[in-house]
Amino acid sequence: MKYHKLVENAQKPEGFWGKLMIRSMNRGHSELTDWALCHIDIKSGDHVLDVGCGGGKTVGKLCEKVGGGKVYGVDYSELCIKKAEKLNHKNVICGKAKLKKASVSALPFESDKFDFVTAVETYYFWPDKLNDLKEIARVLKPGGKLLLVFEMLKDKNDPDKWTKVEKRLNIEAVSREYIDDMLERAGYQNIRTYIKSGTSWLCAVAEKE
Ligand SMILES: C[S@@+](CC[C@H](N)C(=O)[O-])C[C@H]1O[C@@H](n2cnc3c(N)ncnc32)[C@H](O)[C@@H]1O
Repeated sequence: MKYHKLVENAQKPEGFWGKLMIRSMNRGHSELTDWALCHIDIKSGDHVLDVGCGGGKTVGKLCEKVGGGKVYGVDYSELCIKKAEKLNHKNVICGKAKLKKASVSALPFESDKFDFVTAVETYYFWPDKLNDLKEIARVLKPGGKLLLVFEMLKDKNDPDKWTKVEKRLNIEAVSREYIDDMLERAGYQNIRTYIKSGTSWLCAVAEKE
């Protein structure tokens, strides 16, 4: 029962169980995020957006990388935005980090704004995945890059690996081929996917034309 309540709050953290989930995600996704961030070259001065930012741990990591640049985080959960603002308090006060409540389907930013967009363990929940990838492309600068990060990679040798969580959350684990195809159909180029050996971690880096 407790496990179910917790897992259900991965989708849109709210209330008591949402708070616990946010804490658990900040801890549990940290190593995955560090691994994935090694595949992009964020530079001082860059403007970066983290979509589905949850409790804001990734926003903090990005702030360390952008020097004089700026980091934005969006999430459609009000609780996540509150928690992410609290965690990144100092960077919010000085204007380096900005958190906004918003859906990936309607990003509250002008076109061609960001050098990078990151999205850690959130893609599964997006309502209109192809158009949501296009919406992210809209806010990326030409040549800007999207980093998608997953810890639920389908396993051909163990097809039931994710069945329980997929059913509970009405989501689907991903395959390398599927992500490649979606990014291509959304108009991205120079698509690269990486799998960390011995894990079910996948990240994809794709460039806006
Ligand atoms: C599993 S959590 C991951 C949070 C964070 N990226 C991390 O790695 O800890 C998924 C997050 O995506 C957010 N999310 C899901 N669908 C969304 C949507 N359509 N628009 C914006 N955020 C969304 C949820 O509110 C939740 O915070």
